[in-house]
Amino acid sequence: MSLPSNQRHFVDIKDIPGDALRHILETAKRWKAVRRDLPKGALDPEPMLVGHALAMIFEKSSTRTRISFEMGMQQMGGSSLMLQGGNMQLGRGETVADTARVMARYVDAIMIRAKDHKAVVELAREGSIPVINALTDRSHPCQLMADIMTYEEHRGPIAGRHVAWLGDGNNVATSLIESAVRFGFSLTLGCPQILAPDTAILNWARSEGGKISVTDVAEDAVKGADAVFTDTWVSMGDTRTDDRMEALEAFQVNSHLMSLAKPDALFLHCLPAHRDEEVTAAVIDGPQSVVWDEAENRLHAQKAILAWCLGKI
Ligand code: CP
Ligand code: NVA
Repeated sequence: MSLPSNQRHFVDIKDIPGDALRHILETAKRWKAVRRDLPKGALDPEPMLVGHALAMIFEKSSTRTRISFEMGMQQMGGSSLMLQGGNMQLGRGETVADTARVMARYVDAIMIRAKDHKAVVELAREGSIPVINALTDRSHPCQLMADIMTYEEHRGPIAGRHVAWLGDGNNVATSLIESAVRFGFSLTLGCPQILAPDTAILNWARSEGGKISVTDVAEDAVKGADAVFTDTWVSMGDTRTDDRMEALEAFQVNSHLMSLAKPDALFLHCLPAHRDEEVTAAVIDGPQSVVWDEAENRLHAQKAILAWCLGKI
């Protein structure tokens, strides 16, 4: 399937039609299979982005996102530039809009990990090239594409399944809520009341017919789930306070909570993980955990996102 190619962005899952998201995922699954026996640095058999350049702006730390985007561009025959937000003129007051206009003269796409979601939206609005959100305070859409891919490669279609989230109602949780709507699975978020997900995104999900519930009882959240997701209790930019850590204690993913989910439930975590905070070592290093496949799938999912944004698929 080829979709109209002008000005695609990957800023939030909710802004992208379900059929485009599905197309990206199915492409990623095919490309993963094609690369199975190739060295990591080898070109794809049909490199899609020869001659294309991606600028990667980081205002926050990263391991997976940085490496997977850079290797993804290399495999597709393109190049990438790693830019620290603080070292750009952006850090000295040049506007996002001017930065976007200038960057569009040098590179073909921008990937940005930003402190403030509004900057990503503005980059997308002002530049004339695709912008990919690589995590903001609001959302982490690339992560969720890899997560859905991982669930489906282990258990088949996610549509109609039931997913549980435990912990902070944070940026990854927001993208999970949006994914539940676009990919058609039901979702229960178990969060302490002081860290509940954003009301606006819950209202949006329900207005779209999403089957989303929120509880502050961890046991209720995981009951009968096909997959259990969690994330760090202290995201980049958050402050580690005693109140936060105490409120989250009951939401640690441990063997007891996993035993309330379906017997074949998967455990997912975007990483980096903090063993014995949000998840016990027995769970993340145990047989239900698919976190390493999930990390690998960032690469394959993002290659398909890049190709989609650039009108190649
Ligand atoms: N999951 C994720 O985005 O990891 P990094 O922060 O290491 O990029
Ligand atoms: N919620 C985490 C995700 C890290 C990949 C953060 O924003 O720090």
